[in-house]
This record gives sequence, C-alpha cells and structure tokens, in this order.
Amino acid sequence: VNVTVIDRQGVEHNFEAPTDMDLNLMELCKANELPVKGTCGGMALCASCQCYVLSDTDLPEQSDEELDMLDQALYVKDNSRLGCQIPISENIEGLVVELAPDEED
Ligand code: FES
Repeated sequence: VNVTVIDRQGVEHNFEAPTDMDLNLMELCKANELPVKGTCGGMALCASCQCYVLSDTDLPEQSDEELDMLDQALYVKDNSRLGCQIPISENIEGLVVELAPDEED
C-alpha cells in the first residue's frame, strides 16, 4: 500500500508498505529509519508517534486511549493521530502524514 511520510525537515518519504506484516504506521516509520521514537511500544501512551494526517484517507476511529493521550500531548492539531494506532492495511492507500515535532527537542 502506498504511504507518504513527511519528516520534520519537510522531506517526503514514499513507501510501498507491506500489508501482510501486521505493522502500524509508527513501526513502518521506525523500520525505515525515520526519527519516530515509539517510546511506549505502540500502546497509545507516549505520543512520540504523533503525526498530522494530510490526506482525506478513511482511517479507523480513534480509541478512547488515543484521544486521552492526544489530550495530554503537545503540538496537537485537529488532524493529529498516533501513528501506532494506524494499521498498515489496504484501506489506507494514498495516506499522507507529516511527523509532529518531537516533544523532547
Ligand atoms: Fe507511543 Fe504511539 S508509540 S503512542
């Protein structure tokens, strides 16, 4: 499935991501050496995988855990999502996201 991630320097990274490896967007970024920490391991508990969704892709509903975490995170916008809560599946073809600033920088 085709996914584009814009890094914090504004550089676009385009991936043909496998849908059969049970990855989420945070793991895809890490696997491709983008600077996404994924500190909590994908439990919606750290917001280090926050990104802004720029395409009008139909994404899974946000869980209460994701909404709670985004309530506490910095740099949150209306289009913020936690990358670890976005499964890499055929449904997200054409997804474009931009990485949110790193809270620790
Ligand atoms: Fe921690 Fe996504 S990796 S919230």
